[in-house]
Parts: sequence; C-alpha cells; structure tokens
Amino acid sequence: MQAVFGAIEKVSKSDASVLIVGESGTGKELVSRAIHRRSARGSRPFVAINCGAIPETLLESELFGHEKGAFTGAHVQRHGRLEMAHGGTLFLDEIGELSGALQVKLLRFLQEHEIERVGGRSQIRVDARIIAATNTDLTRAMAKGGFREDLYYRLAVVVVSIPPLRHRRGDVQLLANTFLQREVVSQGKKLIFTPKAVKAMETHGWPGNVRELENRVQRAAIMAESGRITPKDLGISQYSEFEGQGLSKAREAVERQMIEAALARNKGNLTRAAAELEISRPSLYELIDKLGIPRR
Ligand SMILES: Nc1ncnc2c1ncn2[C@@H]1O[C@H](COP(=O)(O)OP(=O)(O)OP(=O)(O)O)[C@@H](O)[C@H]1O
Ligand SMILES: [Mg+2]
Repeated sequence: MQAVFGAIEKVSKSDASVLIVGESGTGKELVSRAIHRRSARGSRPFVAINCGAIPETLLESELFGHEKGAFTGAHVQRHGRLEMAHGGTLFLDEIGELSGALQVKLLRFLQEHEIERVGGRSQIRVDARIIAATNTDLTRAMAKGGFREDLYYRLAVVVVSIPPLRHRRGDVQLLANTFLQREVVSQGKKLIFTPKAVKAMETHGWPGNVRELENRVQRAAIMAESGRITPKDLGISQYSEFEGQGLSKAREAVERQMIEAALARNKGNLTRAAAELEISRPSLYELIDKLGIPRR
C-alpha cells in the first residue's frame, strides 16, 4: 500500500490519465477520489460512471449527452457525464465493459479533447481528466481483441495497481480496528475483537477484499452479544487458518489439535480419549505415532 500512496501523491501533481487496477472491493474508487481531491482539479466536480452497470444504448448518451430529438424520448437536450466533469475528473469504472464503438468515441475525446453529443453536429471542447478502473486483466482482453490497444495506452499513462487484501496481511488488523472504531462511535457501545477473531481475520482469504472486511465488521458489531466480537460474529470459519495449505496438511493439523485436546482433557487416558474422539484405541495409537504427539 505504501507504493499505492506514493503513486497517489505523484499522479495528483500531474494531469495524466490514470488506470487503476485491482480486484473488487480493493478501494479503486477511494483511490480515484483521493487522486482527484489532491489534484489541481480538486475543487471542481468529480463525476463517476460505472460502464458495466448501464446498457450500451444508454451509456453513449450518459457519457456524451444528446441533443433534443436525437432519438425517441429525447425531449430535451442533455449534457453527458463528460461535460459535467468539465474542469474536474471523470471516473470510468469497469472500463473493460465499454463496447467497441464507445471505445472509439472515448479515444477520440482523449486525443482531441472534444466531444459530439448524440444527434449533435458540433464539436464541444471538454476539459476533463480521465481516471479509469478495472478488475479484469485488460492486457488479456487486448490480446483477444476485446479492448483497443490505442485506447489502452491513452488511458494507462500511469497504472496504479492495488494489491488484494490477502497479499497485505498487515493491513487487515489496521483496517478492522478503523472500521470497529467507527461502529463504537456510531453505536455508542464498547466493542473489542477476541484474540480468536483477530487470528481468524489474519488467516481469512478475503475474496471480497476491503469491502468484505468492512461489511463483516459492521455486521459483527451489531450481532456481538457482549461487546466481544468472535469469529462467529464475523461469520469467518475457524478453519480459515488452514486455507492455502492443502487438505492433507489441514487434516493433520485438525487431527493433532483434537487429539492433543482430548488427551489433555482426559489426563492422558487413551481409552477415554479414544472414546471421546469416537475412534478405536489402536487407531488413536496409530495417529499419535504418525503425528509424533508426545505421550503424557
Ligand atoms: N484503505 C482503505 N481504508 C478505508 N476504507 C477503505 C480502504 N480501501 C477501501 N475501503 C473501503 O472499502 C469499500 C470498497 O472500496 P471501493 O468502492 O473504492 O472499492 P472498488 O475497488 O471500487 O470496488 P468494486 O470493484 O467492487 O467497485 C469502500 O467502502 C471503501 O471506503
Ligand atoms: Mg468501485
């Protein structure tokens, strides 16, 4: 993340197009807003549009606007998001979803700094900085012909890559505490994580990245009964500590933990430990040997 913060600092001072790459929920929009706020355009508009959430037919007029009578239902002239972002920044989320025709239109804007509204004949000068984001591999889309190379190089003057949360384990606890503090303030009650919850968060895979962490902490803060947040409140499996180890290693680790606990509870009595584990005495002997568990 230090590299990301450094990149934010640098690109804020320039007016170049930026491509932000990262898995879902890593903070692409947050980073994009930070770049805008710190830039010379910071007091001008920040306009965001999700290219993947709007049907192609509507997206063109959303982006470029339309003239009165351009199509059925176009009763009045309308400014597009690019024009709304004049003087400021346009954030194009999920840029990989842009159709071929709109890729061409966007490329023309990046080259000429001019747009044409749908159904319009005149060129309108627009001064907007473009920050685009993607959670898909655009270089692969480019190789397959789904994304224009010339547009890619116009957009990706600077690439800011946000690592997934599982690759920056040190951030998990910092972020979790930040989100928990927020709940402490808004709910006005004392909340802490149990040590098991801290461990479970450290080892969880976080496929939904920071957004998942934020949601889980929020929900846990509401559900926690005593103000002590457990792995169960977070909805994180106690087995997440075995993730990425492979099944046989995980199985051995579980066997070892359960056998050691049963032996301790039964003060080393193998017959009772075996009964509790619902295995035969010889099977327990065998496992103790195999796993090298010290006999007491
Ligand atoms: N470093 C961070 N500190 C605090 N909150 C963060 C951080 N990074 C992300 N978040 C929070 O996580 C959530 C997801 O961030 P954001 O919407 O920017 O992600 P995204 O990459 O745009 O996700 P998607 O690809 O799903 O659109 C937001 O609520 C954001 O405030
Ligand atoms: Mg987003």
